[in-house]
Amino acid sequence: MIFKVKKTLQLFVILSSVILSNAVEVTEEELKSFSYGTSQFRLAVVGDTGAVSEATEVLRLSSYDALLHLGDFDYEHHADAFFDKTLPSDRSFKFMGVLGNHDYLSENSESISRRFRDNIYNTMRKSGLECKFSDSKFMWSCHYHNMRVIGLTPGIKGVDDRSKQLRFLKDELSKATEDWKICAWHYYDKYYHTGRYQNDGNLVSGDGESFYDYCKEHGAIIFSAHDHVYARTRVMSKFSSHEIDQYDGGKDSKIIQIRKGATINILNGAGGYEMYEEKGEQKDYRHWAKKYALGRDKENQKKFGGLFCTFNYGGNKKKAYCEFLRINSSEKRFDYFTIYQNENPGSVSYSDIDKSFLDEKKKEYLKSKGIVEQPLTTNTTDTNASPSSLSDNPIMDDINIMPDNSAINKEGVVNDSNKPESKSKSSKTGIAIGVSACAVAALAVGGLIVLKMKKNKHSIDETELVMKLPDEEYDYRNQMPINENRSVVDDDFIPLPMPSYHNNYHTKSKHNKNQ
Ligand SMILES: [Fe+2]
Repeated sequence: MIFKVKKTLQLFVILSSVILSNAVEVTEEELKSFSYGTSQFRLAVVGDTGAVSEATEVLRLSSYDALLHLGDFDYEHHADAFFDKTLPSDRSFKFMGVLGNHDYLSENSESISRRFRDNIYNTMRKSGLECKFSDSKFMWSCHYHNMRVIGLTPGIKGVDDRSKQLRFLKDELSKATEDWKICAWHYYDKYYHTGRYQNDGNLVSGDGESFYDYCKEHGAIIFSAHDHVYARTRVMSKFSSHEIDQYDGGKDSKIIQIRKGATINILNGAGGYEMYEEKGEQKDYRHWAKKYALGRDKENQKKFGGLFCTFNYGGNKKKAYCEFLRINSSEKRFDYFTIYQNENPGSVSYSDIDKSFLDEKKKEYLKSKGIVEQPLTTNTTDTNASPSSLSDNPIMDDINIMPDNSAINKEGVVNDSNKPESKSKSSKTGIAIGVSACAVAALAVGGLIVLKMKKNKHSIDETELVMKLPDEEYDYRNQMPINENRSVVDDDFIPLPMPSYHNNYHTKSKHNKNQ
């Protein structure tokens, strides 16, 4: 009899605990306002801006915490113009920049070239970034939040030679421990432009080892410019022979999964000076995921733009959200996509990455409220079930069943009923208490059902907690939507037909001198 009473009391305590923990409802708003994870930050990436008024407008398209400029700061040999007039006077953001061909010896005198280089160097230093510069100042490696950005100048006339640049890249990237890695340069290799200059070869890598592939091996995102278009590749597993990764999501995919061994290149030279038309075999490469260029009838001629990416999106250090925004268009956003860092895309889906982050966040939120979630350990539970199969069951996910010999006190601390004092208390319990406990337990069961129904009605589903991407322009610095020009993907620019396979896809093009 004593054993039965003891069991009954345990049941009572268990049910009470369940009710206690379920009485707290977690709303989407509560979870959203709960700060958890890695600080997100917004990086703007522009290229080929020149120092014109359109470039100023591009830099005003969104707020950002850091700006990466991919070169060609001015086309009129004015080394100070971009830094004095175009760059926003609000310099609260960090600045990074690499020299373009128009910023150095192929287009300028030695003194003007040096001034361009020093303006980049000084602006970076003044912005307070933690960077290492080569003695020549043509190469740098910066740490920002949980990101490593490496800026190089391969192919630019008068700078460190290519082998020295590759060595710098290898030194810096091989020891980088940051979650996010970026490689940035002005020029491109032969498969990664859209055909304005038909004879361009590997302006970055030359005939040697591919800079692109080295960055790819480390899972770094690659930014380049020089071609005055916006074009992003599909996820590539090899750049030198333009092989698309088996886990790539396809043309125009909005989900990009990168890892060590697979990444994307974004050609981003539509920053304000002049738009180029796509031409030749390059425009038809099947590895383009999305392209934006000057149309045949001069469409987009003045619709310059830049890429704006929020890293650690919603606190998740494996997630980034990017959008290509443009000026002079009623449809401001041309492209958008989410990047996931997924080292095992064959067994882990990107939604698993969202789900596990959300589970961690929810757990931390409950902990902050003094509620301890308990492990699912009952005799009826399949102990071989995977965590995901358990959480797929909404009932099991919602009800936390206590371990056999434990209970939760009001502070949420587990008490062990096998402790001497617990045994002593339960042994003194009489039949009357047992009967009362049964009655209370029955009430508790009823209460649980009512609460469960209420919970189903008002609390949120796990799937709803996955961080939603903004469906409208968002001011990331001020954390509020921008009401003007609600954006959708633009179909104004109609690219030329893209065949599934181009006959001349492997045609070699001759290496060309700097443009
Ligand atoms: Fe340019």
